[in-house]
Amino acid sequence: MKRPLDYFAFTMPGLESTAFTELRMRCEDARQIRFARGAAFFQTAATPAQLMEMRSTEDIFAQLAYIPKLSAGKPTPSKIKNTSARVPKSPLAENALRALYGAAKKIDVSAALLLWSQAHKMKPPRSWRVVAQMTGNHDFRRVDAGDTLRAALRDMFPPKIKEQDDEADLEIWLRLFYGEAIVGVRLSGAEMRHRLYKTEHIEGSLRPSIAAAMALLSDPRTEDIVIDPLCGAGTVIIERCLWGSYAAAYAGDRDAAILQTAKWNAAQAKAKIEWQVEDACNLHFADGMAHKIITNLPFGKKVGSLEENARSYPEFEREFRRILAPGGLLVTLTSDFNHWRDLLVAQNWVIKKTVVVVALGQPATISVAQKPAQ
Ligand SMILES: C[S@@+](CC[C@H](N)C(=O)[O-])C[C@H]1O[C@@H](n2cnc3c(N)ncnc32)[C@H](O)[C@@H]1O
Repeated sequence: MKRPLDYFAFTMPGLESTAFTELRMRCEDARQIRFARGAAFFQTAATPAQLMEMRSTEDIFAQLAYIPKLSAGKPTPSKIKNTSARVPKSPLAENALRALYGAAKKIDVSAALLLWSQAHKMKPPRSWRVVAQMTGNHDFRRVDAGDTLRAALRDMFPPKIKEQDDEADLEIWLRLFYGEAIVGVRLSGAEMRHRLYKTEHIEGSLRPSIAAAMALLSDPRTEDIVIDPLCGAGTVIIERCLWGSYAAAYAGDRDAAILQTAKWNAAQAKAKIEWQVEDACNLHFADGMAHKIITNLPFGKKVGSLEENARSYPEFEREFRRILAPGGLLVTLTSDFNHWRDLLVAQNWVIKKTVVVVALGQPATISVAQKPAQ
């Protein structure tokens, strides 16, 4: 049997455990190692191509090196080769960068190249670069850590794979997160975070990985009749359609021009959806016809206002309750959650799960509410 390898995935903050749930659905052997803000660490023997099917993650990396505490010990003379003149002189910094250099020298670059090619349908990379990210205080500067890693790796890549400053095929990421340092090869391409179908955008449009998480939380089933009555650019309903089979999908928006952007994106995604320009406070659907409603409500900040939410949320709740079948699921996202939750609770919805996520730059809550069986 294939040996499990260490990977990590970046997610929108708050979606770490939802992403792991998706991972377990796709790769049964996946074992959670830990979560950090915006990152899930795991092991699996799945192929990189299988991991590229993930939809609730923003990026996936194979881990190449891990230093749990990149802190300085007793200062000793530097042996770092090929680093730029910008390496700081602080002994603490020198020690930390030396530890990073030593760990980087142990990286198995051939294994990283193979994993990258497997994720990219066996295409070999033509170029590589280092991307360094730093969160929290460190004894050294981010650029010096990046330079150190680059210096360590430089003579480890085959000469035909050229080092570049930007836009390289293969990226080695250095994540400095408070005390720890993780080096990984980025297996995912830009299409994991920016779906290829999404060529039309509107203000307040949701990140596809959040929309995919909402689809997952709706417990998708083949027999689903699913509706997004405030569809905007269509990301939520398209992600549901791409998630797996369904009986029927409907989407609406009160703005005809916006609905056109959703139709365009859905056509790129080859998602079969029926559309209607209409107000979500007064929907044309028959009572109890839907199994699932999945929707991104106006937060009342960029779109609408809190006063408008005070008027429209009770009407949304009433219409959603009317068109859902007993036991049907309502998955919503809003930053005005206290207000929304109070309305749901007052009408006996059972709130089965809430996930707080950073969406559109602010904390917002995905909730899964079940309409009570009458
Ligand atoms: C999904 S919402 C909100 C997006 C994001 N949560 C925010 O607040 O910035 C955006 C879409 O809802 C639509 N919309 C707002 N109120 C609506 C209503 N009463 N009925 C149908 N569509 C509505 C808007 O036209 C827009 O396309």
